[in-house]
Amino acid sequence: MSLKLDYIYNYEQNPSSLIPLLQKTQENFGYLPKEALEEISRYLRVPLSRVYGVATFYAQFRFEPLGKYVIKICHGTACHVNGAVNISQAITEELGIEEGQTTEDGLVTLERVACLGCCSLAPVVMINNKVFGKLTPEKVRKLIKKLREGKLDV
Ligand code: FES
Repeated sequence: MSLKLDYIYNYEQNPSSLIPLLQKTQENFGYLPKEALEEISRYLRVPLSRVYGVATFYAQFRFEPLGKYVIKICHGTACHVNGAVNISQAITEELGIEEGQTTEDGLVTLERVACLGCCSLAPVVMINNKVFGKLTPEKVRKLIKKLREGKLDV
């Protein structure tokens, strides 16, 4: 299968276009589909192994689609001292996945972040674009339950 990467022709056909093309592809699809990487490899005449090598080197690139909900768990200093580890543990237990993973049903992706910029509300998580602060493991378990039931307004 080949994806339509119309934008590819806006980039010069040489290896220096690799990172900008990976960034554009992720912007487009939300992740780097295998077929897109193959297409980029062909277009730039860069071996696929090199394309993967570069893409896996940078933490910004992902190889799976994001879940419907993205939960960013803050591990910055303020959140850390206010129990971020317990929040993270409660969430990972509820969902059965680790930070950086997506549930099999594609509902939730968990991400670890350094600071969400609202330290006075620590510990904090962000679900899609909504911030939830002053959390406890109990509160966060309730949030996950609501999320599963489709009752969380985010
Ligand atoms: S440290 Fe968590 S919001 Fe700043």
